Amino acid sequence: QITACLFDLDGVLVDTAVYHYKAWRDLANSLGIEFTEEDNERLKGVSRVRSLEIILEIGNQTLEQEKMLALCEQKNTEYLKDVAQMTPAEILPGVVDFLKALKQEGILIALGSASKNAQLILERTGLLGYFDAIIDGRHVINGKPDPEVFLKGAEALSVQPENCVVFEDAVAGVEAAKNAGMLCVGVGEPETLALADIVVKDMTEMSVAKLRELEK
Ligand code: G6P
Ligand code: MG
Repeated sequence: QITACLFDLDGVLVDTAVYHYKAWRDLANSLGIEFTEEDNERLKGVSRVRSLEIILEIGNQTLEQEKMLALCEQKNTEYLKDVAQMTPAEILPGVVDFLKALKQEGILIALGSASKNAQLILERTGLLGYFDAIIDGRHVINGKPDPEVFLKGAEALSVQPENCVVFEDAVAGVEAAKNAGMLCVGVGEPETLALADIVVKDMTEMSVAKLRELEK
């Protein structure tokens, strides 16, 4: 019996990936590192510091801890300029209808995101009110594919992991869901998200009926 849905934020509910990419690309370029859209796939679902580590790996560079933290800060400042301009228009297709349908069905809703800016983005896009619990980058120690973010979400809702469905667009996120012992709907390409129980293109393909199918 499914009693809760746990949502990743970036790439599932809103399209902030383009802003993350822009900010990381500019920062990488300023370090003399070329950073492509393909490289950017590796940063999805991954924490801010880990993202920088991956970029430095790509450029064969190492930096002191202190310098890294300063660069993360710098990237976030740039990123937040775009976030400040966000509106409900940037909610991805089908999201609001599906959240409303879940509410109507009495299914609990939580956020499970690696982002420390999650709450702000939910506020800017007017989605905050739908959530019964929010677990984000400020509450977790171990990033995806560790299941911590989703297990904490289930706990906050007082729901068992086997009664939860996770919605994820990142490979690391799907792994985290499976590691938590939860059902997982992948959002994106079936080839990339092969570990997910089902894959949808976006939330327009989701409904309560389809969710109930997963229980069988
Ligand atoms: C999400 C995104 C990642 C991002 C991470 C941390 O998981 O998919 O690309 O690095 O959040 O975001 P933050 O807003 O804390 O820098
Ligand atoms: Mg994501």
